[in-house]
Amino acid sequence: MSTTRRGAFITFEGGEGAGKSTQIALLAAHLRSRGHEVVETAEPGGTAIGKQIRRIFLDAANHELAPMAELLLVFAARAQHIEQVIAPALAEGRIVLCDRFTDSTWVYQGVVRGLGTEAVRTVDGVACGGMKPDLTLLLDIPAELGLERARARNAAQEANPETRLDDQEIGFHRRVREGYLDLAGREPERIRVIEAGRSRGAVGASVREEVDRIVGAIKPAR
Ligand code: TMP
Repeated sequence: MSTTRRGAFITFEGGEGAGKSTQIALLAAHLRSRGHEVVETAEPGGTAIGKQIRRIFLDAANHELAPMAELLLVFAARAQHIEQVIAPALAEGRIVLCDRFTDSTWVYQGVVRGLGTEAVRTVDGVACGGMKPDLTLLLDIPAELGLERARARNAAQEANPETRLDDQEIGFHRRVREGYLDLAGREPERIRVIEAGRSRGAVGASVREEVDRIVGAIKPAR
């Protein structure tokens, strides 16, 4: 797996309905307007194989899925994603914007599912060489508000079976939020907390401010 980087690896994290995909699209347009080559991607997914894994992972019918099986599925998708998409793009000097990465596993499987963060660290080391983003934007929103937004989105999509985690009770989503804030407190330089209950324009401005600090050093492709 190549880890040579000339571009920048930026990830978005947060609970359900925090607005990650909207913000990624806004940021990608901003960076492209400045001449950067941008790759927008997401986990679990990001590759054809990753999308097949995502289907198993999020299928509401798979309520028997064990936490350790969840952990290994997301890392299988991630190893494929790094190899096939992320590492080659970074080596070519592109800016990779990724919706969720290993911090999601840390919070959802390590903390909330109770597997322990040491298990996540160990598998991360084996599967992904402990790869870290250059910058992580944590879109923080109260669990109730985020869930309300996510459920409205799911209801608007026809026959969406990928609701296994959105269907969890509110306490689960509160623990997700706390897990993220705790993690951000441990790595305040890399993980920047952005208050996501505001308008998309206000959130977008905060996102650009953080990103401009780190992409200034990257030469635009044109
Ligand atoms: P999303 O694509 O709507 O963000 O949904 C992905 C879901 O998968 C979300 O509930 C978080 C969960 N997830 C994990 O539990 N562990 C992981 O490592 C990743 C990437 C996602």
